[in-house]
Amino acid sequence: MTRILQVGLGNFGRRHLAAWHLIDHGDRLWIAEADQRQWSAAARYNFPADRLLPALDAGLDRVDVVDIVTPSTSHFELCRTALLAGKDVFVEKPMTMTSQDGAELARIAERTGRILQVGYYYRYHPISQWLHQELDAGRLGRIRYITGNFMGFKRARTDVGVMHTDGIHFLDLFNWLLGEAPASVYAVCRDHFRRGLEDFAVAVLTYPSGIVGKVEAGYIQPGRWKDRVVPGALTSKDITIVGEKATVEVDFEVETLTIHDAHHELRDGVWAAVVGPSMHVPLDPCDPVQMVARELADFLDAVASRRSSGPGPQDAGVQLAALIEAIYQSSRSGGPAAVQAPASLSR
Ligand SMILES: NC(=O)c1ccc[n+]([C@@H]2O[C@H](COP(=O)([O-])OP(=O)(O)OC[C@H]3O[C@@H](n4cnc5c(N)ncnc54)[C@H](O)[C@@H]3O)[C@@H](O)[C@H]2O)c1
Repeated sequence: MTRILQVGLGNFGRRHLAAWHLIDHGDRLWIAEADQRQWSAAARYNFPADRLLPALDAGLDRVDVVDIVTPSTSHFELCRTALLAGKDVFVEKPMTMTSQDGAELARIAERTGRILQVGYYYRYHPISQWLHQELDAGRLGRIRYITGNFMGFKRARTDVGVMHTDGIHFLDLFNWLLGEAPASVYAVCRDHFRRGLEDFAVAVLTYPSGIVGKVEAGYIQPGRWKDRVVPGALTSKDITIVGEKATVEVDFEVETLTIHDAHHELRDGVWAAVVGPSMHVPLDPCDPVQMVARELADFLDAVASRRSSGPGPQDAGVQLAALIEAIYQSSRSGGPAAVQAPASLSR
């Protein structure tokens, strides 16, 4: 029976705590949280006081796996310590602040034979699973364009900028859905709040197959819905995938998926739009705690089988960190930037 140490019980750590209980692992859970004022969040589960600890080190000997839900700036050190102690690790996104740090974690995980999974729960939403199947089966035809908005009025995170914390969800989802990562990017970022972190970002992505992508993230643009993770925020989390045969529109916040039977045909020398019916595809709802529960269950399966199919240290760690670095480089230079993963891990 796998014993778990969750590190961090802040805003999102509470979702992890709920998710561990949802998959019946609450009685095998320890929590390390540095700020003891946060410990009260465990009270609603009648969480035993002797399983609440002040730091990772205090719990490492008692558990088999570690679940890291602390600010992104602390991920590298905490993951490194846990992996070197022989633990399998689940870490919330982004895995590390830099691609170099990511490459080091990937090397340690490989050398020690440990599972290292990154928290990208949009991959586990039924909408994403449906999209993955449809794209694999080629039912939208050749993909031409994929675009997403992950934005809205909300508090500005203090550990990383908005593309690095919000936009990165869709950067990962697009790579996973398309089965490839962007080769280059052209991006514009702005720091209106003068914090040294972007609060607005648009990135145009070019994939090796020729597909064009665009991700927009920001705190200064309006969102359409009440955010289900950040209290008091208004948010939009939507994507559109344009194929040769059909187009799909998704709104994750209200969990709708619409497929438009629309394509173009050359008629008498003119490309005419042939627009058929649009259809809503009914899928099971899945709230953020259920999404976390699904990815944690997948992590436990990987721990048991010693084989991971979830977001891993290279595709969801190093590669995404290199993409974020290229986005910042492009925004600084005003021109496109190539995405360069550290040499040992280049595609
Ligand atoms: N998947 C998602 O949609 C999603 C949503 C929100 C946050 N996140 C990720 O979750 C992580 C945490 O975000 P959050 O919003 O909960 O942050 P938060 O600041 O609300 O909480 C972090 C907690 O970690 C504790 N902490 C910091 N360093 C620690 C250490 N070394 N040992 C023990 N405790 C420590 C802090 O005291 C705090 O309570 C971030 O990486 C973020 O990107 C993911």
